[in-house]
Amino acid sequence: MFFGITSVLLIIALNLRLTFGRFLKHLPEPEREISADNFKEYINWIVRWKLSFLRLKTWDRALDYLINWAKKEYPGWAAWVFYGLVLSYAYLALSGFIFAWFVPRGLFGFPLLLHVAAGALYAICLTIILFIKARVYLPDKVAEKASKESSGFYCPFLRKSWPRPYFQAAAFWVFVLAGFLLASSTLGSMLPYFNYPAQIFFFHLHRWSALASVLAACLAIDVMIVE
Ligand code: HEM
Repeated sequence: MFFGITSVLLIIALNLRLTFGRFLKHLPEPEREISADNFKEYINWIVRWKLSFLRLKTWDRALDYLINWAKKEYPGWAAWVFYGLVLSYAYLALSGFIFAWFVPRGLFGFPLLLHVAAGALYAICLTIILFIKARVYLPDKVAEKASKESSGFYCPFLRKSWPRPYFQAAAFWVFVLAGFLLASSTLGSMLPYFNYPAQIFFFHLHRWSALASVLAACLAIDVMIVE
């Protein structure tokens, strides 16, 4: 119950924050403030944007955009690793959270089998991506990139933009660390080396790491993928 409510609230809060920052960034500088008018405009904007996903054309355009981004960031065969990661991750997150939120018994049966199989693909793809991309997100590279960036991630409270590379690096490393915890907690709860309380601990570790991973993925979509 606690996990269900906290995870829903945190995912909604982060996405509202990210989309509100994005909405404000498109306004002329003097109008970028937290006000009732801007908030009303933002609600209209977000509803129009969500409704546009009822049309197949929007999904088509979003998919084209993602594929082009992947080809640019992961040239050659590496793009297939990225697609493998996206597909396995989408299934893992959907199956994991739908069962955690709506099914009291938790993940079981065929969806659980598929979850574990998708988990193997996810772990392999994430490891390869880590080898390909880790050097881009090392502290010295990030600081160098940040020093060249004039605008970036907009904070409406401080009315200031922060260099995007810091947020990109944070999203990348949290996603990787959460992936490591997700894989090791599953191994911990499936291997016969731990007692029952330890397995319960691994189950909770898996759920909370999944939440950290989804939050990092939402941030990554905002600061890395969507222009
Ligand atoms: C490394 C790959 C993964 C494997 C092998 C894996 C495996 C499992 C297993 C076996 C369970 C059943 C509960 C348990 O005994 O721990 C589970 C539950 C769960 N998984 Fe994963 N998982 C993986 C990745 C992910 C990812 C990436 C997410 C989401 C971002 C996720 C979200 C969840 C959630 C929320 C539950 C709890 C569902 C419930 O409450 O019943 N998992 N996972």
